[in-house]
Amino acid sequence: MCGIVAYVGNKEAYPILIRGLKRLEYRGYDSAGIALLNDKELNIYKKQGKVSELEAFTINKNLKGNIGIGHTRWATHGLPNDVNSHPHFTTNKDIAIIHNGIIENYSTLKEELISRGYQFRSETDTEVIVHLIDDIMKTEKVDLVEAVRHALLSVTGAYALVVISNKHPDTLIAARKSSPLVVGIGKENEFYLASDATPIVEYTKQVVYLNDEEIAILDRNSGLKIVHLSKEEKTPYIQELELHLEALEKGGFEHFMLKEIFEQPKTIHDCFRGRLNTEQGWVNLGGLKDYHQKLLNANRLIFVACGTSWHAAQVGEYLIEELARINVEVEYASEFRYRNPIINEQDVVIAISQSGETADTLAALELAKSKGATIIGICNVVGSSISRITDAGSYTHAGPEIGVASTKAFTAQVTILTLLALLLANKKGTVSAAKFHEIISELENIPKKVKEILDKNNLIKEIATQYKDAKNALYLGRGSSFPVALEGALKLKEISYIHAEGYPAAEMKHGPIALIDEEMPVFVIATKGTSYEKVVSNIQEVKARKGKIIAIVTEGDEQVKSMADHIIEIPDTNEHLVPLLATIPFQLLSYHISVMRGCNVDQPRNLAKSVTVE
Ligand code: M6R
Repeated sequence: MCGIVAYVGNKEAYPILIRGLKRLEYRGYDSAGIALLNDKELNIYKKQGKVSELEAFTINKNLKGNIGIGHTRWATHGLPNDVNSHPHFTTNKDIAIIHNGIIENYSTLKEELISRGYQFRSETDTEVIVHLIDDIMKTEKVDLVEAVRHALLSVTGAYALVVISNKHPDTLIAARKSSPLVVGIGKENEFYLASDATPIVEYTKQVVYLNDEEIAILDRNSGLKIVHLSKEEKTPYIQELELHLEALEKGGFEHFMLKEIFEQPKTIHDCFRGRLNTEQGWVNLGGLKDYHQKLLNANRLIFVACGTSWHAAQVGEYLIEELARINVEVEYASEFRYRNPIINEQDVVIAISQSGETADTLAALELAKSKGATIIGICNVVGSSISRITDAGSYTHAGPEIGVASTKAFTAQVTILTLLALLLANKKGTVSAAKFHEIISELENIPKKVKEILDKNNLIKEIATQYKDAKNALYLGRGSSFPVALEGALKLKEISYIHAEGYPAAEMKHGPIALIDEEMPVFVIATKGTSYEKVVSNIQEVKARKGKIIAIVTEGDEQVKSMADHIIEIPDTNEHLVPLLATIPFQLLSYHISVMRGCNVDQPRNLAKSVTVE
């Protein structure tokens, strides 16, 4: 949610900032802006819309400078227009700032500053910080770093920010609290800064992740210095990035989403690689090795997550309760933290998050920790905030997910949860050796079976053409396919703007059935298994009301085929692994419908990949 990039060194900053902003555009694309410092002249360019519009706007401008900051915005306070775009600057344009997060006490601070003669240009919360810094420098007669520190002691809320000043032509000052910031260390006192490592990786693999309430001073003469808000000096902890540049490119696909859908045979395999052994009959999650007993003896496992990750958690609930017979609850992170939940030391709270930065999920974990629960993270982004605050965790190893609509992260999350359920069930003795062996062997076949479904892309595209103009859609499933239905509906609505709802198939007759007419596509997961016959009855109920049935069925199914308008066959698999396969056709259907409707697949309107505000 808002992307930050900055550079100080001896290269031209502009191309680095623009490339970085393009990499970070997934975090917000309401507007983009940069500030460049050249010969003590601070030039600011900002524009509503995408980075490409900023680029067009800056043609023929003075873009010189070896130090600069850049921002891509997801609007919170104030309309997405040019004025509200970052950077924001002091009245005399000596200091400029970029910010990701929300300053909660901004209106009080703004009133105070107005009473002291400051005039505000924008409606943003960010602008108060830059005027506050200016005011503190003037009234307290302190230098810029001290003024930034004092200003941050006065604000409440979340921030990752970078400050640049024409009085300090060699220095950038950055700070974070609850919003991520990474420092890249280049050659000879050359520094990069960004909200994540994607703009940095092509220049250096040496990074320092800033911690909450740390201020980084990046100076091309004196190097990197990190101090805590309390003034305590910190030793930078330099880490080696594992990220590869190719992972950030489209690799010949038209969209990142399509590339990420097609990566799933590999990402699912990467997720379980080295974590199971069919011959010796074990499953292992290295990051949790010291927490097995804690998990097995837990009063409850409480999953906290948002969006797609919440759907994965729902699948996890089915798997863990069914296989390991441990009590599981799944909570929306945003609701969990505000309803005074009853948690104690016997509970284990497990956050699921692709980005590892989702503000609601982070806050839910912090609450659980304060109440004594053990906290565990299942994240995709290595080094993310959730992965760093948790007691233990497992990475999903899906690689960077750039498309705003989550696809490969979901299947990787479900894979980890399957492994977790099997691990606990095996240790607890709640599954027979034969069943344990059957499921882990079949898990190894899943990448190949996902590939078989991807090979039906043309058929799925053909089906998509028939429903691209739908106004509404229903998604139905039972058991662990119910969250897959929820996920299918979310995919459709977020990238094609068609209203879609997911329901447990049997719930349809308690209300949603009233919506069904000949215009309504109903996407149903009707694979062979425990609830098959019941789902067949639900399909009959839809047909009786002239709804259109698009059914995902097990290969060779004849019964549903005779009733449905379209079927998409998926390979037969163990019932517990169906979510990993059934979700793939829904991803492709949504993708094609979005493309056919002319929507922005990778950057749908109003959304951002990483939701770092509550
Ligand atoms: O990074 P996280 O997994 O914590 O993100 C949670 C949601 O914001 C995310 O899944 C969102 O719902 C996606 N747009 C879904 O495609």
